[in-house]
Amino acid sequence: MAGRLEGKVAVVNGAGSSGPGWGNGKCTAIQFARDGAKVVVVDVNPAAAEETAGLIRGEGGTALVLEADVTSQADNEAVVAKTLSEFGRLDVLAHIVGISGKLSFLDDVGGSDWDKVMDVNLKSTFLATQAAIQPMIEQKWGRIITVSSIASLRWLARNAPFAYGVSKQAVAMLTKLMAVEFAHLNITCNCIAIGMIDSPMVRGLLGEYAEVVSAIRDKGSPTGKQGTGWDTAHLAAFLASQEANYINGIEIPLDGGYTMKAPDIYPSDPIERGQ
Ligand SMILES: NC(=O)c1ccc[n+]([C@@H]2O[C@H](COP(=O)([O-])OP(=O)(O)OC[C@H]3O[C@@H](n4cnc5c(N)ncnc54)[C@H](O)[C@@H]3O)[C@@H](O)[C@H]2O)c1
Repeated sequence: MAGRLEGKVAVVNGAGSSGPGWGNGKCTAIQFARDGAKVVVVDVNPAAAEETAGLIRGEGGTALVLEADVTSQADNEAVVAKTLSEFGRLDVLAHIVGISGKLSFLDDVGGSDWDKVMDVNLKSTFLATQAAIQPMIEQKWGRIITVSSIASLRWLARNAPFAYGVSKQAVAMLTKLMAVEFAHLNITCNCIAIGMIDSPMVRGLLGEYAEVVSAIRDKGSPTGKQGTGWDTAHLAAFLASQEANYINGIEIPLDGGYTMKAPDIYPSDPIERGQ
């Protein structure tokens, strides 16, 4: 729906992509621009941010690139200050930054890995939302969209990164607490629990096993396919719009039904079932 973010200014953190292809933040930044928003394209990797901004401008949209490490309070404050000086307002924050950390059992979660995952996933969400909500409070309108993971909702696999699921559950709770606190100012806060998405980050993590594991991830979904960054982008754009005025304080699984699915332990053939 073209124009549903017309006149809005959106900051997208993690709007680059960690490799060739379509990351969740990259797609979201492009979708926001397609819907009419002026987009502040924020990433720790300026080349990745420039690529996204180039795609937005190539379609006739407006993009401002800002290099920032969102684990830094000063960088988050600078992003908000530069957004206000360039565009005069800040309506939407989509904070789509996260790392998975190493695969680990509870007894070998390294202290430094735990701290890094908590910093990049949780602390960055706290700092980015804390900075962005100030102009929203003054405007008495705002949209905050964070991302967790289905790892925040359920056990996923043996040796799945412990710190990751814990950090993402905390991101969701932080979002829900903010939602109640600021609802009276027309500010909504919602969290997308992203499921199996075929993204550059996932492919980079899997390395030589990317094709094999990608097929397993496809099979795990009731739809038979992983999602894409565009699925995240379409939901984020809806949550950012006026249409989502009354949606507040929820963590929405975006997973094709994956979290609902239990392991299929029964034979599918009725004769084998003895019927
Ligand atoms: N892909 C999936 O299957 C999946 C599943 C669940 C949740 N998620 C979540 O979605 C989000 C995005 O994942 P993606 O797969 O699109 O990843 P991605 O790596 O392609 O994109 C993330 C971007 O964030 C940037 N970034 C990383 N640290 C940063 C920092 N400190 N400051 C600023 N920018 C930083 C990276 O440079 C990159 O461009 C993450 O929060 C991830 O946990 C992804």
